[in-house]
Amino acid sequence: MPNSKARITAIGSYVPERKLTNYDLEKLVDTNDEWIVQRTGIKERRIVQSDESTSDISYKAVLNLMERYNKSMDDVDMVIVCTMTPDFKTPSVASLVQAKLDIKNAGALDINTACSGFTYGLHVANGLITSGLHKKILVIGADAMSKITDFEDRSTCILFGDGGGAVLVEYDEKQPGFLSANVGSEGEKGKSLYCSNLSHHIFEEEIINTGKLVQNGREVYKWAVTTVPKGIKSVMENASLPLNKVDWFIPHSANLRIIESICEKVDLPIEKTLYSLVNYGNTSAGSIPLSLDMGVLEGNIKNGDKLLLYGFGGGLAHAGMLIEWNLG
Ligand code: COA
Repeated sequence: MPNSKARITAIGSYVPERKLTNYDLEKLVDTNDEWIVQRTGIKERRIVQSDESTSDISYKAVLNLMERYNKSMDDVDMVIVCTMTPDFKTPSVASLVQAKLDIKNAGALDINTACSGFTYGLHVANGLITSGLHKKILVIGADAMSKITDFEDRSTCILFGDGGGAVLVEYDEKQPGFLSANVGSEGEKGKSLYCSNLSHHIFEEEIINTGKLVQNGREVYKWAVTTVPKGIKSVMENASLPLNKVDWFIPHSANLRIIESICEKVDLPIEKTLYSLVNYGNTSAGSIPLSLDMGVLEGNIKNGDKLLLYGFGGGLAHAGMLIEWNLG
């Protein structure tokens, strides 16, 4: 990987106000708080109102960033929104956000790699800036998962929630933040986690077509706890650094049991891990920026820290990276 010339300079986040607790879910499906907490670690999640969409979450996350870091969006030259729940098939969420922020001279594109969206977005932004093509990129990870959640399916509706975060990635040759990365995809396992609205088949196999998320939880679990540890080893090898140099591990907040298993396999203390799932559930592309921002706001993440981010999920695809955190 060529030496990076990019750095994350600011962060913001947003979650909708409406809470959906495990006790609320007990009234919708045959489940209970104890089962959900024991299997996933999740206690509650946030849910958008019917007139709120991913572009609203994205826009509000950027407003939060602007308020806190006094950053102008006028010279942003690319808007990247990572999401699997766009408001429309077209226009893209990125174009909607570009318009809401009145950014005049920027490209706009959505990236859909489900729960690994945000780390893919950062990887692309680093590449665009390091290559010299762009100078200032907004990367947003946001999902309104409640829009595609089947609230009659107790094995999936307990997992997901809505929310997201935004970071600004800017040109910086002197103090670059992107140290190494690893990306991968096992598309042949795509039927373990899908949401269909156009096709009735995946690799010639017939699938359920409800427009809602369908998941084989056990398969996804097994895949995540074998793939992510290998990916983490590649990220650290690519950076030529041992894992004990990592200050914070910020995995996709899918499920606490998955995170614990990954930590055990790579011998990383769970105390060094930040996650947003307890109060927000699995917010797909929103989960890593939400965890990052919680870490910043709670005073855990400090400038100079080395952060290991790892996104994984639908695709089945994954992307991880080691970054040095230096806001401002
Ligand atoms: N409440 C109570 N019981 C439930 C339940 C719920 N919400 N969901 C499923 N069950 C039941 C099942 O019906 C099954 O009952 P049975 O033994 O009588 O047939 C039992 O619990 C075990 O089901 P199983 O699906 O094997 O549970 P599990 O231990 O695999 O846990 C998940 C289910 C979804 C929590 C787990 O597979 C998981 O977390 N997978 C990864 C999902 C994920 O993180 N996806 C996103 C990745 S980006």
